[in-house]
Amino acid sequence: MSAEADGVFQRELAYHEKLYSGFAQAHFARPAVRALRAHMVRRILRMTGATNNSRVLSLGCGIGDTELLLAPDVREIVGVDLSPAAIRQARADAQSLSIRNARFEEGSEASGAFDAVIAIFFLHHLPDAALAELPHRLLDWLAPGGVFYSLDPSRDRLSGVVGRKLIPGLMKKYQTADERELQAAWTADLFRRAGFEVRTEMYDFGSSPLAGLFPGWRFGFRIARGLDDWLLRAPAIRRRGSNFELIVRRPRATT
Ligand SMILES: C[S@@+](CC[C@H](N)C(=O)[O-])C[C@H]1O[C@@H](n2cnc3c(N)ncnc32)[C@H](O)[C@@H]1O
Repeated sequence: MSAEADGVFQRELAYHEKLYSGFAQAHFARPAVRALRAHMVRRILRMTGATNNSRVLSLGCGIGDTELLLAPDVREIVGVDLSPAAIRQARADAQSLSIRNARFEEGSEASGAFDAVIAIFFLHHLPDAALAELPHRLLDWLAPGGVFYSLDPSRDRLSGVVGRKLIPGLMKKYQTADERELQAAWTADLFRRAGFEVRTEMYDFGSSPLAGLFPGWRFGFRIARGLDDWLLRAPAIRRRGSNFELIVRRPRATT
């Protein structure tokens, strides 16, 4: 690992150890965030085509709240994250919910072939070199015909412009020193160049930022989500959406 990549790794680790020492657990348990996670899980299932026969790998799984919601709908889910605090929490929650087909490991390695690999708010935390390397690493993890799904903040999002003007302090509090918004087409190209079939979608316009800002307001999230589904039909709004998705398929013929 280069000195620069090691620096990013150490800062990410320090930030997330603190985040997962209590704040994230409380914040992610609030009603609007739970509703957002439930929506994400339905979306992941639809976009990846994962079924109760699928093995799924989650990169940068955090405390595993999305993965534990997904577990009943798949055969097995493996979550990996650099943060020991996150992995401890994910394992404890799996045990207390008696979820036996979810496994959580420290780091960013996994073995075996997976039918789907997901990365929720993860790619934009990787240094450029690690991000460029990821499509090649996917060839080890993703079975032929398998699907990689990611969700990340878009560099063109209107909510970022507004947030930086109105609540710069809060934006900084929720962001690590090294993360950055990504450009959807640029990110998609990294995977395309490695031989994958790629398409991009826009996940939301205002509903996820709203759930983060007003985590107790489940009804507000539902209204905003309904509005997003309607607004995102307009290309001009879609371009300025908050979080984009990559849906990346490994062709069956790739060796
Ligand atoms: C924004 S959080 C998202 C966590 C989770 N997916 C979620 O939706 O809440 C990014 C996660 O990536 C993890 N992470 C950052 N760099 C990583 C790396 N190189 N390897 C493994 N995990 C990493 C962090 O510890 C953190 O949990």
